[in-house]
Amino acid sequence: MTTVAKGLEGVVAAESAISAIENGMLFYRGIDIDTLAERSNFEEVVYLLWHGRLPKRSELDALRSALLEEARVPDDVLELLRRAPKDAHPMSVLRTAVSALALYDPEADVMTEAANIRKAVRLVAKTPTLIAAWHRLRQGKEPILETESAFTAERFLAMLHGQKPEPEAVEALDKALVLHADHEFNASTFAARVTVGTLADLYSGVVSALGALKGPLHGGANEQVMKMLEEIGTPERVEAVIREKLERKERIMGFGHRVYKQGDPRARHLKRMSERLTAKIGEPHWFQMSEAIEALVGALKGLKPNVDFYSATVYHSLGIPRDFFTPIFAMSRMAGWTAHILEQYADNRLIRPRAEYVGPKNVSYVPIEARG
Ligand code: CMC
Repeated sequence: MTTVAKGLEGVVAAESAISAIENGMLFYRGIDIDTLAERSNFEEVVYLLWHGRLPKRSELDALRSALLEEARVPDDVLELLRRAPKDAHPMSVLRTAVSALALYDPEADVMTEAANIRKAVRLVAKTPTLIAAWHRLRQGKEPILETESAFTAERFLAMLHGQKPEPEAVEALDKALVLHADHEFNASTFAARVTVGTLADLYSGVVSALGALKGPLHGGANEQVMKMLEEIGTPERVEAVIREKLERKERIMGFGHRVYKQGDPRARHLKRMSERLTAKIGEPHWFQMSEAIEALVGALKGLKPNVDFYSATVYHSLGIPRDFFTPIFAMSRMAGWTAHILEQYADNRLIRPRAEYVGPKNVSYVPIEARG
């Protein structure tokens, strides 16, 4: 009998040179996440993840121009969004729309590295447009497709809200995008790698990843965090509600992590942003409740907040509805997924593990007429 690592815990599934978790710290291509969060920006991180080094000024400018140029989505894909049921979850809409993009990309099945990088640029460029378009369409508004900003965070907020965003909002979203851009062999990235390990195309890989990200144990947790905060309502109710949830053996969303046991290094940046931004919008109670939950869950379960916990109140403060939180995660992680897909193609071997069979054996076939 083989020992099974349930959920593949602790299993090293492949070598990767993209990101690393070491001693509770996260590194993208060897650079620690604290430095990147303080000093870098999303486009620079995208370049870093894809190419393995920071871009020169001209390379960063070229990437920003390409992202701006590729930000428009095909009319037929917009038409698909127009016809989607207004109550469809934004992650389902995004997953469907990203899959549809492949139908209009003449290079969808071209497998060269150059074509794959061009498709990665298109995906990072078009994902914010799709998310913002759906936000407006479901409110019965026309999508905004033209913005002049070459900065993803600024362009996205402008397309979402229909007005030029404040610099502080842009800076906060940009930092959140940096923090979410890659995370080693998380579930969605692994799903993408499994898919392209069959030599399926890059779009198939990111659609698999989008499906995996949607679940509440992964990217879907940030939406559930806001839902929980809304349910709790006031800081005074934190203690009773959290104790009740734990007694019912419910999971507290935004807490715990498969790899980080001493705390998620991304969470502290988001916590600082959450404090500042909730105060700025005059809703400090969200942060007060979050801090109270953090203290209580720490005391009762020894669990620490993960990246999804404080990102919920950061996004809320930016005027983003809670069911759009996971799509924002996707908008950033698209960079990491595509980097991992490129790495998988570069040295591919089919990913095909084994299962320990525990079902019945030597079962005889009973003809249909004889089945009771
Ligand atoms: N609330 C309550 N108990 C928890 C939680 C939680 N959030 N997380 C772990 N535990 C308990 C769990 O019940 C178990 O206890 P026991 O041994 O008594 O049964 C123990 O801790 C170990 O849990 P596990 O499920 O074996 O841990 P895992 O490594 O399989 O799961 C996790 C990791 C992130 C799925 C889990 O911590 C969880 O469900 N957290 C809530 C959802 C969440 O915030 N997900 C976001 C993850 S981080 C970023 C991302 O991927 O988006």
